[in-house]
Amino acid sequence: MNVMVTGGAGYIGSHAVRQLIEAGHRAVVVDNLFRGHRRAVPDEAAFYQIDLADTAALAGVLADEKIDCVMHFAALTYVGESVAEPLGYYHNNTAGAISLLRAMREAGVRRFVFSSTAAVYGEPERTPIVETCPQKPVNPYGWSKWCVEQILRDHAAADGRFAFVALRYFNVAGAAADGSLGEDHEPETHLIPLVLLAAMGRREKLTVFGTDYPTADGTCIRDYIHVEDLVAAHLMAMEALQPGDTRYYNLGIGRGYSVNEILDAARAVTGREIPIEHGARRPGDPAVLFADSGKIQRELGWSPRYRGVEEIIATAWQWDREHPDGYGD
Ligand code: UFG
Repeated sequence: MNVMVTGGAGYIGSHAVRQLIEAGHRAVVVDNLFRGHRRAVPDEAAFYQIDLADTAALAGVLADEKIDCVMHFAALTYVGESVAEPLGYYHNNTAGAISLLRAMREAGVRRFVFSSTAAVYGEPERTPIVETCPQKPVNPYGWSKWCVEQILRDHAAADGRFAFVALRYFNVAGAAADGSLGEDHEPETHLIPLVLLAAMGRREKLTVFGTDYPTADGTCIRDYIHVEDLVAAHLMAMEALQPGDTRYYNLGIGRGYSVNEILDAARAVTGREIPIEHGARRPGDPAVLFADSGKIQRELGWSPRYRGVEEIIATAWQWDREHPDGYGD
């Protein structure tokens, strides 16, 4: 298939481009390079520096490249930033998706794989979280993605041949097994990269946000999934989509790790001391989030290859050591 990958120069999108090419598809990257890295895009992929707001340019690429399916990764993804800058999040994530869907309608492209998030569930009433759990986001980032899911439902109802899958990610981590692609965010806010920066001595210490949660060790529990396992689910979902399909799947490994457990795993992987300090809770952090990913396992036969957080951290650690300055741009 000819696949447009929006955000293909970003962390998850670049891994998707890689897997698409390896599977024999043609990857056409659209990225505005606001936070993406041109060097993360392989030469085999076509590249267009276009902003999602430019509907006409998107429609032109969809038609010229004879696109069969769009994988939509391009988005702003920082919860804290979304609280401070909600308009930017609704503009990029929600209005950006509308612009892309309009371009797709103009070009007659009707297959859509959407990067959604566990943030659509907000503070869950129970864990593990299944797809039918109530959706009540607790921050503008989560709402901006929730809105897109609603828009997709309405759009699919109006156009019976439009098909989409919304993949709700839990905590994505790790780097390509061959060490060639990894996480390079500025600013970095995610736990595992920050822990490894502290292990390398590039940060003085890690602040543990909250030690008084109602969990066994008092720190927050999350479900960490390897980026290559996550991306593999996108290809399976894309291939399974039939006209008119509307699908939703959680993507996690179904096991939660506390912040302290991540620190212990990182100490074991790196063999280094990781200095920490105990800080206050970060506003908006639910105590425990982990997925029931049984639905995608049953329906598509997906299963994660990385089943433990040490293996996931080991790939990130390899990337960090070989690329201390990320993509160097
Ligand atoms: N944490 C720390 N110290 C830090 C950074 C994080 O203790 O310096 C803790 C957080 O409090 C949280 C855990 O580590 O308990 C994981 O935090 P991340 O920021 O790595 O990830 P989140 O769980 O906050 O966010 C992830 C995705 C978001 C998504 C959210 C859905 O990165 O995009 O899950 O709940 F919105």
